[in-house]
Amino acid sequence: MGRLPEFVQVKEVGPRDGLQNEKKQVSTADKVAWIDMLSDSGVKEIEYSSFVHPKWVPQLSDAHDVGRQIKRREGVRYSALVPNMKGLELALETGIDGASVFMSASETHNKKNINKTISQTFPVLGEVIKEAKSAGKHVTGYVSTVFDCPYEGKIKPDAVIRVCDELLEAGVDDLSLGDTIGTAVPSEVETLLDTVMQRYSKDRIIMHFHDTRGMAIANIMASLRYGITRFDSSVGGLGGCPFAPGAAGNVATNDVLYLLHGMGIKTGIDERSMQEAALMMQNKLGKTLPSKSLASALAQE
Ligand code: HMG
Ligand code: MG
Repeated sequence: MGRLPEFVQVKEVGPRDGLQNEKKQVSTADKVAWIDMLSDSGVKEIEYSSFVHPKWVPQLSDAHDVGRQIKRREGVRYSALVPNMKGLELALETGIDGASVFMSASETHNKKNINKTISQTFPVLGEVIKEAKSAGKHVTGYVSTVFDCPYEGKIKPDAVIRVCDELLEAGVDDLSLGDTIGTAVPSEVETLLDTVMQRYSKDRIIMHFHDTRGMAIANIMASLRYGITRFDSSVGGLGGCPFAPGAAGNVATNDVLYLLHGMGIKTGIDERSMQEAALMMQNKLGKTLPSKSLASALAQE
């Protein structure tokens, strides 16, 4: 068992992954005010929206306005999801510090999500990565369905490695490995990380857990023991992939902070600010967000 790290970097993906699956439209002004609250929490990276086709994800069709109106706090990396050159051009025009490209380890999810086979995707992302790097941007490569695909079932680590190798070869700075539908248990995380950690430096690996079955915190714990120090999460536990049936929200940032801070691991993020940001979106959406530590903190007030 590895030692626990002293510091963990948490990326807030609520404004992108969190909102993209929400049917109730949140106004641009509310998104901007909410992202500004997140910027004040101490978090160092926020994925603020997505420059995908607006027909595919209508909730984020205001990415341009959101990107233009948010206050950029010094020291915070503002990134956005980009699927192709059109998305990158719009994102660069709007302003990004980081571009997040994405694809899947499974053929069927890749096709449903971005309308291309895996081999058709590499040249498209290769060009995006090259352009984003030459514009001086940080580039993260998301790999979805690294444990299970909603259409194909179990995915072998080899299939994940093949996609990771190609993305690194194309020039991504780091990789975010997604348990898109939240099926993994810690032993599966360990099996994947056995291979991943032999091949890539730990600093290049981010784990992205959805909490569909309540396993995300256990999976983060397993990842920490493997030396992983970077995680994606969504304030309140909001979220899900619209093209992955059965996918629930990301692990809640509030729960991740409770876990890490409780174990004496620093994140630089203020838990109280994250509670306020979660509460704001809970009120805007008119529904209780899934985070248990949030519910408990609110009940004690
Ligand atoms: P397509 O229909 O194959 O695109 O969609 P196309 O290249 O054939 O172009 C068709 C039309 O779309 C053209 O317009 C393009 O200009 C336009 P026309 O000439 O017909 O008027 N177009 C665009 N417009 C605006 N912005 C763009 C853009 N691109 C083309 N970027 C595409 C391909 C990738 C665009 C589409 O499939 C798409 O937008 N997919 C989005 C899927 C998505 O957002 N999924 C959720 C995010 S991924 C996720 O949640 C997983 C993750 O969290 C990790 C995990 O949990 O595992 C990251
Ligand atoms: Mg996701």
